[in-house]
Amino acid sequence: MPNIQLQKGEFWEKSWKKHIQDYLKAPPRAGIFIANYFKNIKTVLEIAGGSCRDSRYLANIGYKATGSDFDEKTLNYLQNELFINDKLNYSKQDAFNLTFANDSFDLIFHNGFFIYFNDEQIKQMLKEQARVAKKYIVFFVHNSKNKKLVKIFENKAKSDELYKVRFFNAAKTVDLIKNSSINYKNIKIKKFGGFYDLFYKKFLKGWIPNPVYPFRKLLIPKLYQLQKWENTERICCIVELEK
Ligand SMILES: C[S@@+](CC[C@H](N)C(=O)[O-])C[C@H]1O[C@@H](n2cnc3c(N)ncnc32)[C@H](O)[C@@H]1O
Repeated sequence: MPNIQLQKGEFWEKSWKKHIQDYLKAPPRAGIFIANYFKNIKTVLEIAGGSCRDSRYLANIGYKATGSDFDEKTLNYLQNELFINDKLNYSKQDAFNLTFANDSFDLIFHNGFFIYFNDEQIKQMLKEQARVAKKYIVFFVHNSKNKKLVKIFENKAKSDELYKVRFFNAAKTVDLIKNSSINYKNIKIKKFGGFYDLFYKKFLKGWIPNPVYPFRKLLIPKLYQLQKWENTERICCIVELEK
């Protein structure tokens, strides 16, 4: 059962004060994954972007990107204090009720968001995303087959509600899309996050130069696909829309 607290704006305002710096330090893995996988998109919307790390990365490499969230305070802090000359557009948006016109973006994505909601809420949000996206919806959710990760979250949840989340398996994500009312051409599932994230570091073990580092953006998304589901952090679900 999703934790209702994590669906409220007040929770996130407080939580971001504590966590935003850590989120911003992490590599923009989802942005890198998207830039690698899609060659035919120009406009991108991130929903529930929080730190908007991934949409900011996409804006900086030439996409017309918008980072959105329903937590306006955090968006203002990012835009007016941390990233004053940002190429990223910011927009306050509730994922249940986006203010954009139909087909406004080539691709809509979110990372670590559906994990706070039940099936009915997810289907409702998918419908809204399918309205606003022209070509693709891409989302990343935590993988229930990774038992080690599930345990880590259970332990962390004892002191921080942020970790009280739902985990998914690939079949469940596909089921949710099939049972929503959206029209799609196909659904693809990819592995995302895990051991190979190590190669985002310039030095391994703190001092050994990482030979993958110069090629990290190209290689890491491909290397994820070699690992077992049991060792994979998240499921990446790619929905190509039928319009
Ligand atoms: C775990 S965070 C996402 C982190 C983000 N992917 C990042 O890299 O920083 C979840 C986000 O969902 C946002 N959120 C929760 N409910 C929302 C809703 N109904 N509409 C839009 N954003 C929402 C929260 O404000 C929070 O920023």
